[in-house]
Amino acid sequence: MNDTPQPTQGVSVIGLGSMGAGLAQTFLESGCRVSVWNRSRDKVEALVSQGAIACDTPGEALDANAHVVVCLSTYSAWREIVEEHGLTAQLRDTCIIQLTTGTLDEVGEHAAMIREGGGLIADGALMCFPRQLGTSDASLLVSGDPAVLDSCDPLLRKLAPAWTNLGEDITKPTVLSRSLTAGIVTSLVGYMNGLAMCRAGGISIDLYMQHTAKANAILRAEKDRLAEAVRDGETEDTQASIETWAEAHDSVHSVAGTLGTDLVLQDAVRAVFQDGQRVGLGEHDLSALVEVFAPSAE
Ligand SMILES: NC(=O)c1ccc[n+]([C@@H]2O[C@H](COP(=O)([O-])OP(=O)(O)OC[C@H]3O[C@@H](n4cnc5c(N)ncnc54)[C@H](OP(=O)(O)O)[C@@H]3O)[C@@H](O)[C@H]2O)c1
Repeated sequence: MNDTPQPTQGVSVIGLGSMGAGLAQTFLESGCRVSVWNRSRDKVEALVSQGAIACDTPGEALDANAHVVVCLSTYSAWREIVEEHGLTAQLRDTCIIQLTTGTLDEVGEHAAMIREGGGLIADGALMCFPRQLGTSDASLLVSGDPAVLDSCDPLLRKLAPAWTNLGEDITKPTVLSRSLTAGIVTSLVGYMNGLAMCRAGGISIDLYMQHTAKANAILRAEKDRLAEAVRDGETEDTQASIETWAEAHDSVHSVAGTLGTDLVLQDAVRAVFQDGQRVGLGEHDLSALVEVFAPSAE
């Protein structure tokens, strides 16, 4: 066994909002030497009290370590920082681990900017809350050149022990994380719609919660079945067609309306089913709705 002490790994974190502060804290707890910069100084001081090294400028954070994690509210905030502080020359040989959420255009333009400055880029998306960082519940999707991802691996493992390597296409974490978010957001909005219907119809929230727990088990299995049907090209056979679901949903629409709840969500869902029937998929399985959202090229 080699008893030689390993050098402490260094990393810089730019942006100390809820997520950035969580990232810096997780690195500190795992024994890293962490340099931090944030526009508002109070957030820097909070991290310094936990052992981080304060940087007075973002340039100092870039110079402090070969790996720099950026986690801001938007890509344009980072672009402004780079321009305002003239950081392009300091990007050379620095690896930017970009964990800000952005659009596909922003991700591509940002990678080009870093590479033009001679820097290296790993672009990632966090699919978890700050409190889950460093635990097995943390979900982190990352893309970049293989050698870059290899060099980032020890740091990424500290944030998410089983982080996901999505390969070289820098846009993949954004595509996957936004697809997952589409499912999560619409499901939560639907949950709130149901809760509002209960409230308007005199059903207790506890009863709604109790029965949601039972519905969740069915939902989990059904989601898997739907995805497998699309993957295997078996969206025709069904026990509950798009038409059947549309009729079930009509009754939701009717009750939601009679209870006096807002119908904006129910109208949108009805429009999706109508589109499915209009393109001739009424008798197909619910999984055929994938053709409504993204028709396959045939
Ligand atoms: N929080 C979560 O649960 C979560 C989960 C997954 C992904 N994310 C992603 O993580 C990223 C950060 O989220 P957050 O929750 O940490 O946001 P946040 O708490 O609102 O923090 C935003 C950060 O961006 C900085 N910032 C904003 N505009 C700036 C500008 N023009 N110049 C310099 N700094 C600027 C803020 O600096 P100041 O402190 O000076 O305002 C702060 O450090 C987002 O892209 C978000 O989508 C967050």
